Amino acid sequence: MKDIVRLLHDANSKYNWVGFYMLEKSEPTLALGAFEGVPTPHTRIRLDQGICGAAASSGRTIVVDDVNSDPRYLACSLETKSEMVVPVLVRGKVVGELDIDSHFPAAFTAEDRELVEYSVRIVGQYLESFSA
Ligand code: SME
Repeated sequence: MKDIVRLLHDANSKYNWVGFYMLEKSEPTLALGAFEGVPTPHTRIRLDQGICGAAASSGRTIVVDDVNSDPRYLACSLETKSEMVVPVLVRGKVVGELDIDSHFPAAFTAEDRELVEYSVRIVGQYLESFSA
């Protein structure tokens, strides 16, 4: 997961913050895991908060072209303009997600989505390989 966030972040100048949030076992909260970019104040996010909470609750990718016009948005950096959150699934259940913030508006194209969903599937399959 560390390698994936580093590769995605370093290979794409539009991906200014890239990090995993993983679902806690005991409560409906996402906890920050491996990330690349400036430290975020949001190290724990409840499922009813933010774009991150919405993606984890729905189990679907969320792409927001303009974060400032989305009332769900939890600000991390004033520079962030757009965001994509892709849930990590293990046997069809959400176990976490990969969050990417961009300093550019509408940074995430269909190709970006395909690349990131593919990367996240690798993580899901890896986690699945040693989960009961
Ligand atoms: N913007 C996210 C919070 C996490 S930071 O972007 C790293 C949200 O709205 O859930």
